[in-house]
Amino acid sequence: MNSVTAFAPTNIALAKYWGKRDTSLNLPSNSSLSITLDHFGTTTKLTLNKNLTQDSLFINGNEIHNPSSLNKIKNVLNTFRNLSNQNIYAQIESENNFPTGAGLASSASGLAALTLAASKIYNVDLTLDQLSCIARIGSGSACRSLYSGYVLWNRGELANGTDSHAKSLYSKAHWELDVLICVVNSESKITGSTDGMILTQNTSPYFESWTKYAEQSCSTIQNAIDKKDFSLLSQEAEANCLRMHACAMASNPAIFYFKPQTLEIISKVYEMRKIGLDVFFTIDAGPNVVLVCNPNHTKELIRNFSQYHLLQSKISDGARIL
Ligand code: PMV
Repeated sequence: MNSVTAFAPTNIALAKYWGKRDTSLNLPSNSSLSITLDHFGTTTKLTLNKNLTQDSLFINGNEIHNPSSLNKIKNVLNTFRNLSNQNIYAQIESENNFPTGAGLASSASGLAALTLAASKIYNVDLTLDQLSCIARIGSGSACRSLYSGYVLWNRGELANGTDSHAKSLYSKAHWELDVLICVVNSESKITGSTDGMILTQNTSPYFESWTKYAEQSCSTIQNAIDKKDFSLLSQEAEANCLRMHACAMASNPAIFYFKPQTLEIISKVYEMRKIGLDVFFTIDAGPNVVLVCNPNHTKELIRNFSQYHLLQSKISDGARIL
């Protein structure tokens, strides 16, 4: 077997991961909770090649030379090379099926697909939880993309990170919610999540209170999902997102991910709720706004948000070998 192809979906956090207690292992300061998204993700073909003197990475047909992306890949593949005692380098061909700049986390789906493909091609038999720990070393949020439905990433306590992996709390069938991604174009360069987290930890006066709050908030969000309480979920997921951003904005220099359109969409979500539609927003490290809604209200929301570039999704299954 010389080539393996895997697909991993992207995920969006309702309880955000923001802060690292260990930067080299990507151990988070707080637990987080996400939903795995349908359709949008990364397909990765991994080919072992004895003639290569280093790993090579192609994304959507273009060779990537960016050291930070190559390091993430190397961290994952080195783990499999050590576990399998096979010192063979790989060619990685990844295709993201969502538009560039859509604000979907390509590192989450990319590193999850790579981890799954590598476990097969290096023939290393590990549990999903162990694979989640390896994906986490590539990119924190990737550890959640291996799982289906509603996914909790427990921060863990151990220094070696073996208890810091994700798990599926519920499948998509537990509570079917729809997702609408409002793509806000941003010309300016955005601070990457790792740089953003490190700057926040080092300079934001609110970081300590954020980490305490975030742990509590993650339990509240889990509780809202257990009970399928849309109003509690809306309230807590929005507070969680805004507090993460407020904490980042208080850094020095300030980290602003919002654009004017981001705020415009937030106001519109408030308006929609006033007229009785079940919808809330969440925003990652970028200007795009992700709406989560009751499927009975999706059509009306699409009509009301028709001036924006919308991508439609729902909750789905996790990564798989193709
Ligand atoms: O896994 P990273 O390094 O891409 O960080 C993800 C950070 C957020 O998307 C803002 C929050 C999250 O939990 O996904």
